[in-house]
Amino acid sequence: MRKLVFHIFRYDPQLEGDKPRMQRFELNETEGMSIFIALNKIRAEQAPDLKFDFVCRAGICGSCAMVINGMPTLACRTLTSTFDTPEITLHPLPGFELIGDLSVNTGKFMRALSERVGSWIHDENANNISIDKLEERMEPALAEQIYELDRCIECGCCVSACATKAMKEDFIGAVGMIKLGKFELDPRDKRTSKDFYQVLGNEDGVFGCMTLLGCQDSCPKDLNHQTQIAYLRRKMLMALN
Ligand code: FES
Repeated sequence: MRKLVFHIFRYDPQLEGDKPRMQRFELNETEGMSIFIALNKIRAEQAPDLKFDFVCRAGICGSCAMVINGMPTLACRTLTSTFDTPEITLHPLPGFELIGDLSVNTGKFMRALSERVGSWIHDENANNISIDKLEERMEPALAEQIYELDRCIECGCCVSACATKAMKEDFIGAVGMIKLGKFELDPRDKRTSKDFYQVLGNEDGVFGCMTLLGCQDSCPKDLNHQTQIAYLRRKMLMALN
């Protein structure tokens, strides 16, 4: 097994006088080692104050996303054996508030985005829904379409990989379009095409995407963002007529 060399971004913005820097750690690679396992080992044996996030360790919660050798992705799903080189560089996801080292506040960002685009079912009669009644039926093909978008785990990789987002702070980005796209498809949401146009039909929405494909290249769940954005763009143009 190889000796791995990690170069890890270190900076605690809460610590007065602390400066951003890269710190070097060496570690013996073990079979099936993921970046998440390696980070835990480094924290246990060499740097007890190293900050990084995780919850599920199974590619479900999205909290372990970071930039690994230049690519935003999930630490728990990335094996060290993926890399031919023993040198591994880790940075926090850009575009989010830094908590410290590799930990960023994606929750705050996603919450604000949800509130901005209204990513919940809008139905004035929702208060009259009875839990004793049978659920409304939905065509399986449509349910599949909605489920596909529901696979997004809001890890933030697409936000960090998006050059448009880096240039335009208010750009909704792929995650915002995926969030809203689910409800545009859902017949239980009573918003009209014109309502969706108010949120998406502008330069910060579907007309701002430059199709640079960073979102799609970096998505750990292999979501097809560009198909979704093209669909929404078509719908928004139709809403004008
Ligand atoms: S720890 Fe949940 S996705 Fe990696």
